[in-house]
Amino acid sequence: MKTLVNGIELWKTYDLGGVQVNALRGLNITVDKGEFVSIMGPSGSGKSTLMNMIGCLDSPTEGDLFIDGKKTSDMSESELTKIRSEKIGFIFQTFNLLPALTVRDNVEFPLRNINKKLSKSSRRKVVEECLKMVGLGHRMDHLPGKLSGGERQRVAIARALVNRPKFILADEPTGNLDSEATENIMELLHHVNREGTTVIMVTHDKETTKNTRILRIRDGVIESNRMRTDSIPIPYPVTG
Ligand SMILES: Nc1ncnc2c1ncn2[C@@H]1O[C@H](COP(=O)(O)OP(=O)(O)O)[C@@H](O)[C@H]1O
Ligand SMILES: [Mg+2]
Repeated sequence: MKTLVNGIELWKTYDLGGVQVNALRGLNITVDKGEFVSIMGPSGSGKSTLMNMIGCLDSPTEGDLFIDGKKTSDMSESELTKIRSEKIGFIFQTFNLLPALTVRDNVEFPLRNINKKLSKSSRRKVVEECLKMVGLGHRMDHLPGKLSGGERQRVAIARALVNRPKFILADEPTGNLDSEATENIMELLHHVNREGTTVIMVTHDKETTKNTRILRIRDGVIESNRMRTDSIPIPYPVTG
């Protein structure tokens, strides 16, 4: 099974005090396993609405959505929660780390909630592996407030990966970062992608779309779909 996300004729209608707003208007999307997809489009075009559907945070008003072969468009809230925790890692523009928890505890947080069978020592091992993978093996006992923006986003990436998700949904992951940190985070996301995790990212920054498939959304439908190939990206150095 190579298709990971398959959305067919997706509609999302919001009711704003009696006024109907069509955020998605029969949108079709497929994402295959292993892809790196960038979603672009003007403000209000439906990007966040689409991400919420793919992230199993919301259901379409009409249309069918399959995630990893499972039809999610008519699932209950608890079924959606299960898919979300087992298959999806989330990354946000604002990092969304818990400021009172150390880097280590932030990354462990989703593991505690979801993987209840793991022993304390195995949890610790998984967390350390993920933090080393993002190059933060030396920052594990720091509080997020002591880290740079780029480092915080690395922690968020480690947290997103800790449950070994099928795909990562990143909503403007570099929106709050300077150009150097942006480049580092994009290299890391491409590394994660090469290791087998599918990445779906909303972005406004063209620089971040190199070597990805770009889907442009306008007025709730896909307006264009093209592969952007640039030079081969530099392999991300794995640190110990
Ligand atoms: N919860 C909501 N209630 C009502 N309207 C909404 C809601 N969320 C989004 N919309 C409307 O749906 C359209 C698409 O919004 P959104 O998906 O947030 O676009 P984007 O992320 O591309 O900026 C907009 O017209 C927006 O005002
Ligand atoms: Mg949005």
